[in-house]
This record gives sequence, structure tokens and C-alpha cells, in this order.
Amino acid sequence: MSAAFDAGNGKITVPDLIRRKTSIPSSSSQNAGQISNRGDSDQRKIVCLTAYDYPTARLLDEAGVDIVLVGDSVGMAVLGYENTLPLTVEEMLHHTRAVRRGVRRALLVADLPYGSFHGDKNEAVRNAVRFVKEAGAEAVKIEGGERRMEVIAQMVEAEIPVMGHIGLTPQSMHAFGGFRVQGKTLEAAEQLLRDAHAVEAAGAFSIVVESVPRELAARITSELRIPTIGIGAGPECDGQILVLHDMIGLSLGHTPKFARRYTNVGEAISHAVTAYAEDVREGRFPADEESYHLSSEVRGRLLAVRRS
Ligand code: KIV
Repeated sequence: MSAAFDAGNGKITVPDLIRRKTSIPSSSSQNAGQISNRGDSDQRKIVCLTAYDYPTARLLDEAGVDIVLVGDSVGMAVLGYENTLPLTVEEMLHHTRAVRRGVRRALLVADLPYGSFHGDKNEAVRNAVRFVKEAGAEAVKIEGGERRMEVIAQMVEAEIPVMGHIGLTPQSMHAFGGFRVQGKTLEAAEQLLRDAHAVEAAGAFSIVVESVPRELAARITSELRIPTIGIGAGPECDGQILVLHDMIGLSLGHTPKFARRYTNVGEAISHAVTAYAEDVREGRFPADEESYHLSSEVRGRLLAVRRS
């Protein structure tokens, strides 16, 4: 199902990603004072995006993205839910399988949906195992900090690499009272630092830090040994992730200020559909070149049949 894990074949693995953070920078880059994130040292930034289906997964993988996340943002971006809470394990498995078929090189991470890891810990591990066994995920992502330590540790014990997620965790939207930047007060910032350390101590291999002040994300990044993946958390994180639909202009609702738009696929689709509708209505589509034809012999015989 997934690409072979031979060292050197370009396949991104969990140890590769951890190595990017922990590898000793080369002396030349150290001398130049440019320890991280550029050039060909092992400390390149980690590039992550979401995908929910086969074609986008393939395009991302072929473009060299390091981590493809089947985010539970699929609920809002693709399935039309108002938030991520209604999404089920079955729905997430369905999308993860489709993405698996398109990803060969990148690390494939699946988001565990709300409710799938909040109750019985053994059931949570069983749910996570399904993503690996039935859908080909190479890791799972879990929202939450200190409170998730035990369940993260149990998944790691079951050989499932776990990506943590702290800061604005959309599954906590009711507890947070909406989608707000997190960690702005001293107390909240200290709690997020504790959350980050707890997730690392539980055995997570990386951690998403969402919608927190840049300075706090930088501090978390400098204190953790595992890579931080920022979203609305400033440039100092070890990697960045965006929701694909936000960065390509295919999100229909509000997009946050950090979601830089690189293209406008939504507008391109609207133009194409409007032009197609006009062509159909005016009889300009399909053209003769877009039609199939009978051979002259069959045409002649068909005409003869009709006449008789
Ligand atoms: O669901 C998602 O897409 C996510 C990313 C934004 C990190 O959790």
C-alpha cells in the first residue's frame, strides 16, 4: 500500500522528520550563523498540507510535500459541516483510504475525529489502529495537551506514531467559546508550554501548534526536541501546515489571516462552469471534434435501414 521504507529512496519517515530537528548543523552553516531551515542541511523546514482525496493527494505528493494530513477539517472544507465535531471514524477512514492511494513519498497522517479518543483508552487505541490497518495511515494526530498524555502514550506503546496538536484545537470550540487565538495571557502561555512538554513526554513525534502568538510558538519550538508544525503560529516553527482548500481559494467560509492564498481555484471553477453552461445553452458544446462518428459505410447502411 505505502512506498517501501528503504533508506535513501526519498520516502519520508517519522525518524527522518525527528532528525531534521535534532541533527547537528554542519560546521559551515554554523559558522555562517544560519543554523536552520535553509539549504541542504538536514534541518530543512517541514512542509505539510491537508488532502482529503486521491487527486489532490497525488498532486501534493508529487510536488514534494513532506507530510500529508487527512485533517478533520475535511468536515468543513469538503463535507459541508458547520464544524469538525460531527465527523465520524468511518468518514475519516474513507477519506484516508482515498489519500493513501495518491501518496507514495510523503508521511501520511490521519486526524482522529472528535469522540474517537475521548472516552475509554483501549477503544481509542483500537480506533487509531484502524487508521493504520484499514486505511494505510503512518501516524495519527490527536488534539489536546496534558489531558491527552495517557492516550498518546498508549498509542505509542501500540507502535502508532502520534502527532500532537495544541493551541486552537477546533474540537474544543465549545470549551473555548469559538475560534480564538490561544495563549495570549501569561497563564495561558504557561499552560500551553506545559501542554507542549506533556505531549512530547508522552511520546509524540511532532506537534501542531495552531493560532498562538509567534513569540510563544518560538519559545515552544526552542524548548521541544520534537518538531513543531505551525499554523497561525509564526515562522519560527520547525514546519508549517495549511488547509489546502484555504491556500488554493476553495474554502467557501471565513479564512483566517494566516491562510495565505496562492491561487484561486474557486474562481477558476466558477468561470469554467459559467462558460460551459453558456456553451451548452447556445449549442456551442459539444463541437464536431468533440463528437464520435460512424464510418461512412455504417452511416450509409443506417440511412438505408431508416428509409425502408
Ligand atoms: O484538521 C486539520 O486540517 C488540522 C490542521 C489545520 C492542522 O488539524
